[in-house]
Amino acid sequence: MRIPIVGGNWKMNTNRASARSLAQAVTSACSSHTHNTQVVVFPPFPYLVEAGVALGGSNVMLGAQDAYFEPDGAFTGEVSLAMLKDCGVSFVLTGHSERRHVLGESDDLVNRKTRATLDAGLSCILCVGEKLEEREAGQTDTVNERQLRAGLRGVSADQMARIVIAYEPVWAIGTGKTATPADAQTAHARIRSVLADLYRPAVANATRIQYGGSVKGSNASELFGQPDVDGGLIGGASLKADEFAQIVAAAAAPRS
Ligand code: PGA
Repeated sequence: MRIPIVGGNWKMNTNRASARSLAQAVTSACSSHTHNTQVVVFPPFPYLVEAGVALGGSNVMLGAQDAYFEPDGAFTGEVSLAMLKDCGVSFVLTGHSERRHVLGESDDLVNRKTRATLDAGLSCILCVGEKLEEREAGQTDTVNERQLRAGLRGVSADQMARIVIAYEPVWAIGTGKTATPADAQTAHARIRSVLADLYRPAVANATRIQYGGSVKGSNASELFGQPDVDGGLIGGASLKADEFAQIVAAAAAPRS
């Protein structure tokens, strides 16, 4: 049985006070579900420590939206994995579509960040997903497979225990458009078969694959009810503690 995982990606939102109060609100709103669902929030870098304090001794984990792969040195503006660990971070996002398509990160850079995260002993949510024109050209599976194979290059089967894949169709992120549960299931099953080919079926079966892209309180249950959808990565709706808790509750509900 795979334990579902729900991430709240706050992106470049909140301020110091609202990050603290959102972390507190998420902790209390989600507390009844964290025994059978993992919950992790990704505040902006400057608020990591404060949000971490607000999460206190709860089971809600702290994540970082990005990290640099070099251990230290002259890399102005970048943040190392050791710094993130020092701030209490246990998860790092890599390959998010905004980093790929707004900030121009290549498959190779995503892979370096993914490997560095694992080598630092942290867990990683590796995001993959196709753009609208790629979907319309029938390239969804090809793009996901390319991003998976490139992103996981050099990642061992043992390290896969600390990898979560997030399937996030780019056209669904922040747009209010969601993949249908059937489309999400098809893409997730295909991703799992690529993992089986890259590693072995047992590794593929144990790896959590989240769906992301306009998940809301109102559509989470049907998406998370699919057999290969193991929770979600949530952007906009993670900024409202009550709605985020509704999404976490949907992930915690037993799958039929
Ligand atoms: P969204 O973002 O829920 O606002 O679509 C999802 C994400 O970018 O992870």
